[in-house]
Amino acid sequence: MDQHRTIDMLAVGGVDIDLVLTMDRLPSFDEKVMGTLVGRLPGGPAANAACAASRLGLQVASFSSVGDDPAGQIVIEDFKRFGVDTSLMEVCANAETTFTVILIDPTGEKAIVVVPTFTAEPRLEVAATVLPKTRMLYMMPQDHAHFKALAQLAHQHGAEVMIDMERTVEADSTSVERILVNTDIASFNRDGFYAVTGEEPSVVAAQRLLAYGPHTVVVTHGARGSLAVTAHDIAEWPGYHVQTVDSTGAGDTFNAAFLWGTLRGASLVERLGFANAAAAIAVTGMGPRGMLPTEVEVRNFLSIHTNS
Ligand SMILES: Nc1ncnc2c1ncn2[C@@H]1O[C@H](COP(=O)(O)OP(=O)(O)O)[C@@H](O)[C@H]1O
Ligand SMILES: [Mg+2]
Repeated sequence: MDQHRTIDMLAVGGVDIDLVLTMDRLPSFDEKVMGTLVGRLPGGPAANAACAASRLGLQVASFSSVGDDPAGQIVIEDFKRFGVDTSLMEVCANAETTFTVILIDPTGEKAIVVVPTFTAEPRLEVAATVLPKTRMLYMMPQDHAHFKALAQLAHQHGAEVMIDMERTVEADSTSVERILVNTDIASFNRDGFYAVTGEEPSVVAAQRLLAYGPHTVVVTHGARGSLAVTAHDIAEWPGYHVQTVDSTGAGDTFNAAFLWGTLRGASLVERLGFANAAAAIAVTGMGPRGMLPTEVEVRNFLSIHTNS
């Protein structure tokens, strides 16, 4: 292991405040339903993954921007609570921290509206000072040009690049090639995978994406579990049957746990099993960070649950 790399995961962007509401059923258009406020909770995909990874024992720093509003302070305080390094964060003057509205029905499934309130500057010169100390750059490549610049910088400095591919990345069958050429580990959820392949998750469709450059392609499929492929290996893992309270942050916890296994040199199937177990624990808690497991908790879960 490279001893100079003291940051296991540099989590780029993906911070927001989630206004979380529960209701008996999600409203359809032109309809009113009664809801209950769970809270205004710190969330965001890369930020949730950062907290999950830190909880598992990785050294994590957030490379993100918030507004100089109370929401921004909540984001920073929660990172500190989870032991995520906030020294690289930027607080932007006169800016409102990005927020989302998350609606949760009694099955624990979610509907999310993201409200991006400002666009932060890329800060490539700051990134260049920290990437030589970083093992994995982690981000959702929503801004394709920003991602390309950061990912190429990461590779110049010997860091790897892992991406979270959801539908909001707005990648299609053409642009995915340009994203994956700068990627080492690509993790898709079902909708993100469908957007770029036009297919449901399968080993064969995932293997096709390896040709664009990543050494590992992962596809998660909610409660059904996940699959992962490399040039030499294939792994599939069914989801665990758990009492789902809130599936927000499932994929983020999954990715953090997959990264945890990767940095520890675990086999593909071990990484997949560990990640599925960690994410299954996460969905049993309310809120995006309501039940982020430790390594011991994941190992205990694996020892008592069969994956069928
Ligand atoms: N209801 C659930 N029960 C058990 N595990 C789940 C559930 N939902 C998600 N997971 C776990 O979390 C992983 C990621 O969930 P998924 O819904 O695919 O991603 P995202 O949260 O990004 O949409 C799944 O592969 C699975 O391991
Ligand atoms: Mg996700």
